Amino acid sequence: MSEALANLLNETRQFPPPAELAANANVKADAYDEAATDRLAFWERQAGRLAWSKQWDQVLDWSNPPFAKWFVGGQLNVAYNCLDRHVEAGRGDKVAIHWEGEPGDTRTLTYADLHKLTCQAANALTELGVTAGDRVAIYLPMIPEAAAAMLACARIGATHSVVFGGFSADALTNRIQDASAKLVITADGGYRRGKPSALKPTVDEAVAKCPSVEHVLVVRRTGEDVAWSEKDHWWHETVETASPEHTAQPFDAEHPLFILYTSGTTARPKGILHTTGGYLTQTSYTTHAVFDLKPDTDVYWCTADIGWVTGHSYIVYGPLSNGATQVMYEGTPDTPHKGRFWEIVDKYKVTILYTAPTLIRTMMKWGEDIPAGYDLSSLRLLGSVGEPINPEAWIWYRQHVGRGELPVVDTWWQTETGSIMISPLPGVTEAKPGSAMTALPGIAADVVDDQGQSVPNGGGGYLVLREPWPSMLRTIWGDDNRFIETYWSRFGAGAGGGESGGDWVYFAGDGAKKDDDGHIWLLGRVDDVMLVSGHNISTTEVESALVSHPSVAEAAVVGATDPTTGQAIVAFAIPRGSVETGGDAGEQLIADLRNHVARTLGPIAKPRQIMLVPELPKTRSGKIMRRLLRDVAEHRSLGDVTTLQDSSVMELIAKGMSGGK
Ligand code: WT7
Repeated sequence: MSEALANLLNETRQFPPPAELAANANVKADAYDEAATDRLAFWERQAGRLAWSKQWDQVLDWSNPPFAKWFVGGQLNVAYNCLDRHVEAGRGDKVAIHWEGEPGDTRTLTYADLHKLTCQAANALTELGVTAGDRVAIYLPMIPEAAAAMLACARIGATHSVVFGGFSADALTNRIQDASAKLVITADGGYRRGKPSALKPTVDEAVAKCPSVEHVLVVRRTGEDVAWSEKDHWWHETVETASPEHTAQPFDAEHPLFILYTSGTTARPKGILHTTGGYLTQTSYTTHAVFDLKPDTDVYWCTADIGWVTGHSYIVYGPLSNGATQVMYEGTPDTPHKGRFWEIVDKYKVTILYTAPTLIRTMMKWGEDIPAGYDLSSLRLLGSVGEPINPEAWIWYRQHVGRGELPVVDTWWQTETGSIMISPLPGVTEAKPGSAMTALPGIAADVVDDQGQSVPNGGGGYLVLREPWPSMLRTIWGDDNRFIETYWSRFGAGAGGGESGGDWVYFAGDGAKKDDDGHIWLLGRVDDVMLVSGHNISTTEVESALVSHPSVAEAAVVGATDPTTGQAIVAFAIPRGSVETGGDAGEQLIADLRNHVARTLGPIAKPRQIMLVPELPKTRSGKIMRRLLRDVAEHRSLGDVTTLQDSSVMELIAKGMSGGK
């Protein structure tokens, strides 16, 4: 019981790497020293892990901040690095993708197969008039064609803009229009929750409003009927009949590789622009370093969707540039049953698993008996990404998925950073549950106060990045001013502190603190910090305290306007499956939980109100939509719920809310 009561503030458990992993790790402790001695030389060495057609003249051009250029003058082809060079090295027969469809159908693609498909797609795209610099929107389910489509764009220098397959016609329309995409690559549909889920009708609706789109390429996945117009071309009639011969052209290191719109829950989405050489250097290096990926023996599985940056960097570019064998899964974790993930780990003997805290907490809610029913002994490393992982979820992951032995790497990064920035190194770091620990070699992260001053150990504030990094966003597509405004104007030279040619400081938008050892703890988006009677309290801390109670599976906390305290803490908690919540039992549990938070974090953090709810509103990428919970807590009518994964959730919550306090 005492273990379950640990929380972010007094979490002291620490887990050293397994000895064998430490001894054979791809990256050892000396990497930190190397990078500290000469940061640019360090990144130059990592760029050397790739195949370049032309060597760069300059590692970093930072003469026009905050617009960075990396590996200036260098040329390479991303698809060549992800495919051709492995095939040329005699590894064409190695499996690139073990694909698992949701209904249980499977496909195996070797590097030679994926290379062939990508070359055919590159020829087909060229045939359809796509040339270097054109934008291509990709709206596909999790099928191998998604990776081939992205790589085909990279191969011919077209800039892809992947739009998550769960997004609405409006979201797709806005993104196609913002980038003036010329081609859309989609499918008739994909499988979700046991049934076909159509995509083509959404594309039809969007394309009708997007005159920039000249052609639509359609993969047949579900076989369901689709409407057809003269812009439409079947993938199997266009790509699969195209020549498999294609020579990749080298592109400039700063050539635009992709635009990805951030999944903003409120404001107009931002088209984050990533370029070629620096992006591939850092995604490739971090895959090698953070996941300790051994291409000959590992089977890697990242459960993200290709529509998010995690899918771009850690399904497509990072793993393939390293020649990895990986699993790609089309569907949801509970279709047809709640053991689906573990069944896949067992079936493909997955060794490295990279997933999100929201999934881990869902698995906790379902109970440890489910993973216990499968052979997970192939696993050797576990990763987490997407939001702060509560210590209890971290421990559960290590215990029930990782046999109580495996390293867990909690990786902090963003769409904007392109690659992992803060994370343990699995063979080096003594990880603390709930902390992303330290900046990776070559990365300069810090926590600063309101004035932009570095806080001492034990202090909290805002997470910043003090030096440019290779895979950094280059701008917001079509809006340099918003780029400067959003990321560079809070602290440092961009905020007007540049009289002496001061340093430019990147504002990540996350709250963070340094513990007494200087390790970094992420506290969620700064918009999620509450001000209660003059005290800054992070929603993450209160959520972690709630989840540390044995009766709570998941929790979300918001600050609601309060006449006396400024903001008051309102919590929404999902009880664990077996917990009794009817009548008095529910009232008693709420009282216990309020006291439990007060005991763990101090009386100031005692929630004014706790609601027991069956579900929480989440975006399709798994982030809790606190905005909607704030609406409920402040008795407002609900804002836009269309980006919710399940829009009925809010009705359930609102009903419970009127029921009682
Ligand atoms: C935001 C970025 C990075 C790929 C997926 C999300 C939060 C991400 C962590 C972590 C604490 C995390 C941050 C960040 N976040 N990873 N390990 N610990 N917070 O990409 O949609 O651009 O979101 O996700 O708040 O700013 P994204």
